[in-house]
Amino acid sequence: MAGTTITGGMTRVKPVPDVKFCLVFQCETISVPVMRRVLGDTLRGLGVDEESVYDILLAATEACTNVLTHAGRLAPGYAVVTSLGAVGCQVEVADEGIGVSPAPDEPAAEEPELPIAQLAESGRGLAVMRAFVDHVTLDSRPGHGTVVTMRKHITWSSDAPLRQLRAAS
Ligand SMILES: Nc1ncnc2c1ncn2[C@@H]1O[C@H](COP(=O)(O)OP(=O)(O)O)[C@@H](O)[C@H]1O
Ligand SMILES: [Mg+2]
Repeated sequence: MAGTTITGGMTRVKPVPDVKFCLVFQCETISVPVMRRVLGDTLRGLGVDEESVYDILLAATEACTNVLTHAGRLAPGYAVVTSLGAVGCQVEVADEGIGVSPAPDEPAAEEPELPIAQLAESGRGLAVMRAFVDHVTLDSRPGHGTVVTMRKHITWSSDAPLRQLRAAS
């Protein structure tokens, strides 16, 4: 499947995921188990294999917990945006909180994407994300929020509805 974007008279075709869905939560503790339930059930329902679901939920749990812990009390809520394609799953966890501050001895970064090693403190959460998915980035603008993007290759179960639809068309 492909989508068409028209920009200033130029037409370019860009790939779009087979499925993309967004969950929006208030910054409250209960949102994390709710996210796990809804994201897990949805991925399983679409035919993502159990091992991939387990890994994605573990990484997403750390990212959502970080929003509750680090985004600050002014963050109104956060979004978990999931895209699924033929071979991969991407989960973005986005908040509009205080953002990440660089370590005290580091100059303020010009680029929004801080190397993870430069964070003021880097605990277990980002390490867990990197261990369970293939690619993790953290984009942050102090005062404007943070987006953590996680990508993972996935395996589909043999009876996945999306795969069957694709095979039939
Ligand atoms: N959504 C976020 N908003 C602000 N800072 C964040 C966010 N996510 C991660 N961080 C920063 O990244 C650091 C590392 O996160 P993590 O590895 O989970 O360790 P921990 O949560 O134990 O501090 C956090 O300490 C915090 O400074
Ligand atoms: Mg953490």
